[in-house]
Amino acid sequence: MSQLLARKSIADCDADISLRGGLKRTLGKWHLTALGVGATIGAGIFATTGTAIVGDAVRPGAGPAIVVSFLLTALACGFAALCYAEFASMVPVSGSAYTYAYASLGEFVAWIIGWDLIIEYAVGNIGVAIGWSGHFRELISHFGMSMPAWLATDYRTAYDAAAAVASGATEPTMVYLASAVSTAPVLFGIPFIANLPAFLAVAAITVILVIGIRESANANNAMVILKILILFFFIAVGVFLIKPSNWSTPATGGFAPNGIAGISAGAAIIFFSYIGFDAVSTAAEEARDPGRDMPFGIIMSLIICTVLYIAISAVMTGMAPWGTLGTAEPMITALANADGPPALISFSRFIISIGAVVAMGSVLLVFQLGQPRIFMSMSRDGLLPPFLAKIHPRFKTPYVGTIITGVFVATFAAFANIAEVVDLTNIGTLFAFVLVSIGVIVLRYVDPDRPRPFRVPGAPWTPLISVAACLYLMVNLPGVTWRRFLIWLVIGIVFYFSYGIRHSRLAGKAKEA
Ligand code: ALA
Repeated sequence: MSQLLARKSIADCDADISLRGGLKRTLGKWHLTALGVGATIGAGIFATTGTAIVGDAVRPGAGPAIVVSFLLTALACGFAALCYAEFASMVPVSGSAYTYAYASLGEFVAWIIGWDLIIEYAVGNIGVAIGWSGHFRELISHFGMSMPAWLATDYRTAYDAAAAVASGATEPTMVYLASAVSTAPVLFGIPFIANLPAFLAVAAITVILVIGIRESANANNAMVILKILILFFFIAVGVFLIKPSNWSTPATGGFAPNGIAGISAGAAIIFFSYIGFDAVSTAAEEARDPGRDMPFGIIMSLIICTVLYIAISAVMTGMAPWGTLGTAEPMITALANADGPPALISFSRFIISIGAVVAMGSVLLVFQLGQPRIFMSMSRDGLLPPFLAKIHPRFKTPYVGTIITGVFVATFAAFANIAEVVDLTNIGTLFAFVLVSIGVIVLRYVDPDRPRPFRVPGAPWTPLISVAACLYLMVNLPGVTWRRFLIWLVIGIVFYFSYGIRHSRLAGKAKEA
């Protein structure tokens, strides 16, 4: 029991860095902000907003009130962001919520968070890679290129599309996706359907990350600037296509057609679009001045994303009736359904598809960067095998963990379904936010004198609001997601009791002492 509750001292966290050589400290506060924005604006706004607006088989849609969903989720994330900022500034090593939990809530909870973060980073990135692939397909179609459907989608999407076409659907994308079932080569009696672009995108990013953080941060900065410009472009064009009646017409249910239930369900889905600002904290060990720069990077990236999301979703639902936006490319759909000069609409669709590909590319980069660094921290602590902490002698990157993450994400991205992956990512990440917020309160009591370069204002109330807000979003996710998440946690607990508990470095030290 005492081992499960054993806390790692913050001095030990600091010592780990100097003892082990550590990573290069190259990132300033705007690099970190760019890292946050790079991780945040991606598949969430470009792909999942459609379901949040319209709803699906298991939940109602928010309609034009999606702007309220974005605001609510931003508030929830804001409270959690303050908690992350306090931790990131006082525990400036890589590892994110995992490291913070080890210093405050003890080894067992830390393990659970680390395990849970695999859902946020690696599983989240599976969803982003799949979203990337859909927009990539759209982009190459503007150049008259296409690929066989069985190499561009997943089983569930293909079979759902085939069922829709069998019952009379004629929409071109649906017909294309359905063709995967009839054209796929059959291996051992099973049609082979795989998302090749998603697989290749992850493979390429993995190579960039093995080569080094400096190069990666620069590539990320360029992608972030480009994607912000493209989002401004959408807003600038869309503003002229708005018909205010789309926001309020009683014929389609008015501003909030499904009331609080729709707004809350929408908020739980588009939570995915906010995941990532916390990824800034995984780069703490590479920050030049973590005490000052981490809180800045985390909070600034959250503010930038919130303003953009609210503007984009207001424009989107103003351009076309909300009921038509339920696709995996809602901005493109909004343009297609808006009244405007055809040449402008077609050009804008092309620009947005480039933007989506770039935006999701930079999300992939930051999450693939974060996961191996979390593995590295857990491995340094003995909770995961030592090879995951190996740093490349020349590139100074955790290359073994980077490659393992790449293989895992690329393989699942080739076969998984985006909707299922997004819900699972949301529940896992919200759970991590809950534990981090509790951790801030606990650490204030057990280690009150530790210097806190950034303090959450209004503690313990602010962290408690964060806990309540995250739990509320979790409750709004489907039952099947809860079951999958609990299974994941059980697997993690079994792993801890069969490996981590015996190899823990903290426990080893305690025995020596
Ligand atoms: N926030 C990230 C995205 O929307 C996960 O792609």
